Amino acid sequence: MSNASVRVWDLPTRIFHWLLAASVLVAYITGGERGTAFVLHVGAGHLILLLLLFRILWGFIGSPYSRFADFVYSWRSTLTYLKDVVRLRPTHFVGHNPLGGLMVLAMFLLLLAIVGTGLSSAAARGYQAGAPLIAAMGSGSRAMGDIHETLGSLIMILAGIHVAAVFAHWLFARENLVRAMVTGRKRLARESTAVDRPFAGRARLAIMAVLVLVTAVGLFGQFDATVLSTRPTQPLSQTGEAASSDMADEQTQNPDSEIPE
Ligand code: HEM
Ligand code: HEM
Repeated sequence: MSNASVRVWDLPTRIFHWLLAASVLVAYITGGERGTAFVLHVGAGHLILLLLLFRILWGFIGSPYSRFADFVYSWRSTLTYLKDVVRLRPTHFVGHNPLGGLMVLAMFLLLLAIVGTGLSSAAARGYQAGAPLIAAMGSGSRAMGDIHETLGSLIMILAGIHVAAVFAHWLFARENLVRAMVTGRKRLARESTAVDRPFAGRARLAIMAVLVLVTAVGLFGQFDATVLSTRPTQPLSQTGEAASSDMADEQTQNPDSEIPE
């Protein structure tokens, strides 16, 4: 290894990553709970949406290695890379490798689907007054709750594979990817021809900061934790039936118990 190091992950990308990992974990742990835990669940879900909106835009105007153009590869290149991995002789990439890039896209799409189905399920349970995005789902769909649950488990499987791949990379390629996601820099192998490319400048950072702030106010401005932590007065089911009054009593007495079917 030479001592040369290059800038890879800019600060917004690093903040995005660790906030995303933390909020997915919080959302998973609080999934299916009621009371304060449900407020955290929906809050983490909204934060995930904000992070994804930021990252998708940053994928077009962000620093060189954060751009989709840098890590979205053709199927052919991805397959070639996979074959090299199997032979334990993968090509070195400074940014995401083709498989890593594919995983990033899969996680983005899956998380967007999770947020959508979660919002629809929350609407079907009558939480419209809790957040404008839930209200935007109309009367929602209870069936989406099952899909949401399944996708929620799937993202944890993908995250597990993702962390295992990072660990395997360290084990077999002797490259510490986590350090780069913390410091933003990567040390280059002696034979590497990569050059140091500057991160996005202040103007783009400022535009992004304003956009994120405005979107955050839009998403969280009318977020009502009291409504989300209390059982809705008229929960709707797909068939239009209200939940039994016994269940309603039980939930009033024990607001932190699990969300009933
Ligand atoms: C639920 C948990 C997690 C999710 C959803 C997640 C998601 C992601 C995403 C979307 C990226 C792409 C970053 C970007 O280009 O913006 C990424 C990259 C990365 N993540 Fe995670 N991550 C999680 C947990 C972790 C953990 C626990 C670690 C540490 C062991 C980790 C280490 C990394 C590293 C090193 C990269 C850069 C990979 C590369 O060099 O190509 N992630 N992750
Ligand atoms: C705005 C975003 C979100 C909203 C409004 C939301 C809402 C809900 C609702 C209403 C339920 C109960 C569904 C049912 O039992 O039919 C639920 C369960 C669940 N959610 Fe979310 N959710 C959101 C984001 C997320 C995210 C990002 C994850 C990813 C980890 C997630 C994972 C889960 C899981 C695993 C369950 C099922 C837990 C169980 O019953 O064992 N949710 N969510």
